[in-house]
Amino acid sequence: MGKVAIVTGGTRGIGEAICIALKDAGFKVAANYAGNAERAKAFTERTGIPAYQWDVADHAACLEGCAKVAADLGPIDVVVNNAGITRDGTLLKMSYEAWKEVIDTNLGGCFNMAKATFAGMKDRGWGRIVNIGSINGQAGQYGQVNYAAAKSGIHGFTKALAQEGAKFGVTVNAIAPGYIDTDMVAAVPADVLAKIVAKIPVGRLGQASEIARGVAFLCSEEGGFITGSTMSINGGQHMY
Ligand code: CAA
Repeated sequence: MGKVAIVTGGTRGIGEAICIALKDAGFKVAANYAGNAERAKAFTERTGIPAYQWDVADHAACLEGCAKVAADLGPIDVVVNNAGITRDGTLLKMSYEAWKEVIDTNLGGCFNMAKATFAGMKDRGWGRIVNIGSINGQAGQYGQVNYAAAKSGIHGFTKALAQEGAKFGVTVNAIAPGYIDTDMVAAVPADVLAKIVAKIPVGRLGQASEIARGVAFLCSEEGGFITGSTMSINGGQHMY
């Protein structure tokens, strides 16, 4: 029987590509989504992957949602914390709400999902947690103090939890995507985006499937010696 994977923000963009890659790799996959029921329905019809609605920023909802996934599919072995939002703006224009929503969703979501699943992985002696960070958490980005802080926090969270999971067979890694061809990046003003793309050495945006391939690798048996790492997939835009 295949291992069970849950992907947050899994019904579109990078999350959808991750769901498909994990399904192709033999996992029983569940996708979480926040609110777009129409897109989620279309996703399930297209992929055959069930979708579950809850807000990852809501701690109790994560506990309940993961319990439902486990009841339907079996104990959760793999968590991909992909759900993320942007509320871009310079600090002078950024509201407290725009700060808090991004921190609670992008970073708080990782804590909430780990709390819901880590103990089970530990008890069964096997687990994979992959957190989707960002180039902007590594390098910073003008107009994104909230997003950069949350994503940078994800990279620290990953290294700390990796140390706790290692002796239980639970690996915890991050992927730091660069600018990927998704709705989120399409929302960046065209002139700003053109300047960003001009600085990507490979000369193009990334594809969601190029992130998904990295996630599938980290979740595989062969990835068992990789923990606490951050895989940068950014077309050479930021190297460290
Ligand atoms: N460095 C230095 N100065 C900059 C700058 C930069 N990178 N970008 C803009 N500025 C300057 C401008 O030149 C301008 O200066 P003047 O007032 O002296 O002319 C000033 O800042 C104001 O710039 P904007 O007109 O852009 O300000 P705005 O308030 O209209 O917009 C913004 C600000 C919303 C942050 C806009 O610049 C923006 O959308 N930037 C893109 C942010 C971004 O990359 N988001 C990524 C989203 S995708 C994602 O996050 C996925 C992922 O993980 C990669």
